[in-house]
Amino acid sequence: MYGLNELREMYLSFFQSKGHLRLKSFSLLPNNDKSLLLINAGMAPLKPYFTGQEVPPSKRVTTCQKCIRTGDIDNVGKTARHGTFFEMLGNFSFGDYFKEEAIEYAWEFLTKVINISPEKLSVSVYEEDEEAAQIWHNKIGIPKEKIFYMGKEDNFWEVGTVGPCGPCSEIYYDRGEKYGCGSPNCAVGCDCDRFLEIWNLVFTQFDKQEDGSYAPLPKPNIDTGMGLERLAVVMQDVYSLFDVDTVKNIRDHVCKMANVTYGKNLKKDISIRVITDHVRAITFLASDGVRASNEGTGYILRRLLRRAVRHGKLLGIKGLFLEPLIKTVVENSKHEYSELQEKFEYIIKALTVEEKNFNLTIEQGLNILEEYISDLQKENKTILDGAKCFKLYDTYGFPLDLTLEILEEKGLGVDEEGFKREMEAQRNRARSAQAETNYMGADRTIFHELDTSINSIFNGYDKYDFNSEIKFITTQDKIIESAKLGENIFIITEQTPFYAESGGQIGDIGEISTDTGVVKVTATTKVVGGKIAHQGEVIKGEIKVNQPAHLDVDKKNRLSIMRNHSATHLLQHALREIVGTHIEQAGSNVTADRLRFDYTHFQPLSSEQIREIENLVNNEILNGYAVTIEEMSIDEARKKGAMALFGEKYSEVVRVVDMGKKSIELCGGTHVTNTTEIGTFKIVSEIGVASGVRRIEAITGFAALSYYQNLEDELNQIGDLVKARKNDIVKKVTSNLKELQSLQKDFDALKSQIARSEATQILDNATEVNGLKILVAQLENIDMNNLRDMGDTLKDKLGEGIIFLASGNEGKVNLVCMATKGAVEKGAHCGNIISKSAKIVDGGGGGRPNMAQAGGKNYNKIKECLKVAKEIILEQIK
Ligand code: ALA
Repeated sequence: MYGLNELREMYLSFFQSKGHLRLKSFSLLPNNDKSLLLINAGMAPLKPYFTGQEVPPSKRVTTCQKCIRTGDIDNVGKTARHGTFFEMLGNFSFGDYFKEEAIEYAWEFLTKVINISPEKLSVSVYEEDEEAAQIWHNKIGIPKEKIFYMGKEDNFWEVGTVGPCGPCSEIYYDRGEKYGCGSPNCAVGCDCDRFLEIWNLVFTQFDKQEDGSYAPLPKPNIDTGMGLERLAVVMQDVYSLFDVDTVKNIRDHVCKMANVTYGKNLKKDISIRVITDHVRAITFLASDGVRASNEGTGYILRRLLRRAVRHGKLLGIKGLFLEPLIKTVVENSKHEYSELQEKFEYIIKALTVEEKNFNLTIEQGLNILEEYISDLQKENKTILDGAKCFKLYDTYGFPLDLTLEILEEKGLGVDEEGFKREMEAQRNRARSAQAETNYMGADRTIFHELDTSINSIFNGYDKYDFNSEIKFITTQDKIIESAKLGENIFIITEQTPFYAESGGQIGDIGEISTDTGVVKVTATTKVVGGKIAHQGEVIKGEIKVNQPAHLDVDKKNRLSIMRNHSATHLLQHALREIVGTHIEQAGSNVTADRLRFDYTHFQPLSSEQIREIENLVNNEILNGYAVTIEEMSIDEARKKGAMALFGEKYSEVVRVVDMGKKSIELCGGTHVTNTTEIGTFKIVSEIGVASGVRRIEAITGFAALSYYQNLEDELNQIGDLVKARKNDIVKKVTSNLKELQSLQKDFDALKSQIARSEATQILDNATEVNGLKILVAQLENIDMNNLRDMGDTLKDKLGEGIIFLASGNEGKVNLVCMATKGAVEKGAHCGNIISKSAKIVDGGGGGRPNMAQAGGKNYNKIKECLKVAKEIILEQIK
């Protein structure tokens, strides 16, 4: 019996023996392709080669590509057929071989390499593709009755409205009657599990036009896809993907943790399958650098993880449980997908943090559910509203089952129809939000129009100027022959010392000059097909195509960039050394002014950690390590322990940059030759930028020098201000602060003394009505606390009576009203006085009969407010 890993190897080596270049799987995250969220087929990362936008490394390529399809996520678990993560085997021809070879290779692999008996196989062809049918019959010898003609829906591969497309031919495997439905009509195309489609050969021979017609492609391509797990199902003669050796290892581990047996209980099987599939998917997603979030791929990861955790709860697994399962996933696939091993610490940390957070959310959900239950019981109802149930599902991750289970214990139920309606509404929202996918839909630019046979070569690792010929000049949307003074253009030369922005390092700036003119280059970028475009403005004369040109990089600027780039490597090493090996680069941006490094970590660094990191990096700088840069095979680089980036596609030969004690990175950037050239390194900020991602900004060389100089200038200024020498500044500022505090105290005491004496003065304004003193007064600039204090002082002095004070304070109005016991007995009610009078100044408030306060917004009406208050008081004690 062939294991899944063995089958993959057999396939890839077979196609290698047929002259195919074997490439490692591309990341699950598409590169430069807005039409796709995640890679969903072997051909998806190869689109630029199919359309001719980029030149493939070989005309024949074979891959085993990791894929995720989430369209059917709700069915995962419910059936044994569905899964989100799978591996797709594929062989591709870019204008090289076509139908005949594709069919012959497929047949040879199935019948000669993995020895499937030809009787077991049938094929389908597109109804108008007689050519393919003939090859199957005449060349391969498939009897006519085993060739099925199918319509466009089944056997024509086109996605989106325009672009390469074509008929396909599918190969079916007959798994025998034991998997069949028993119907006498059961044959290829039947819905049951007997005839399994295992391989899809797409003959990409047309280019669909805007008007809907199909123009023949000058050089047709081959794109094939065979699900590796499905092939393993057939070869291992097992029921489903969940019984395939490597997947079963995960499934068994789930069962062991939950103490359940697979295949005994329908509901439990669903949960086992969900967890098995989803843990595979999230492990691979995390290994490509996807982090849980509320949008895009981050949301997919979050949703899959939450679904797995919820089903863990349904199975009765207690506490955190993903980590051991992730380890099993990694064990089973790490030989082909080395990133699983390389990013292991990070994968565990990131997924476990998300699992923990989700458990907290579930706890909150339980509290909310309890509230819902007590509301139902209070209202004597027995059915929980569908919308509430959906909120528990959507926000707190409660599957309907879980909510039902808890409710049923209390003899309650759920409006399941209402729940389904909400669910459907959400699905519709999600569907309309999803962008229409386009088979070959990369964004077109003017650079797509340029001759693909001419490429740029970067030669600036060790030089800053060079002579080369101008090959193309373009504007944003036109190819032009020449450009005049003031024009903004892109120039492409055959060779260039200008580094094009990539790997987080900004592109070079400088000048390009010819006999007739000069262009000031303000940016350098890589464009389609790997060409290097210098963007800039003609600042003198005129520039023409085919002219010999002198390319001159701004060296001072480049040296600053190099210092920052090399320091970034040392920083990454220091972070892993001091903070932990779960730290991975999550983005970097190196310019001449500073370096910015995003990394995966879950809490802020302490100031001690920041110091330690600075010290370690500066130690590496001062040790004067030579920076060595070598090209080697990716395998050698890995053996050497080089750090690779998430999801980055590395070619077979890679550039390894080695510096300091232990920093070894795969990197295409430009670097200093010895660490001392960095000068010095200083972290200037450390902040969080997303959940689980933090950002450091740091400076080196002259930028660090001027940073310290500025600090010194500021310190000197402070020294001048407080009249202290540099070494005495802290002492002087401390004593000044102490003095200030004591002055503040004196000042506060004085202020309340003044307030008290003012209060006494306004006592004179009190009038007497019905044996009660009434004091209604306006003050200025007194805050609420002081106003209340004043009220208390006045009350003590007033004798039986009522006080109403209004003070304007910072454009607002503060009101306080107080009444003595005797006044309350005679009918005074401060709360009522305040609530009515506060309205006049656009405010609100209230209080007890003996005390109330309020704030208002309209200072202009303060007089009217006082008048109204007085009237109310008089009314109350009449
Ligand atoms: N691109 C084809 C598929 O995914 C081979 O089925």
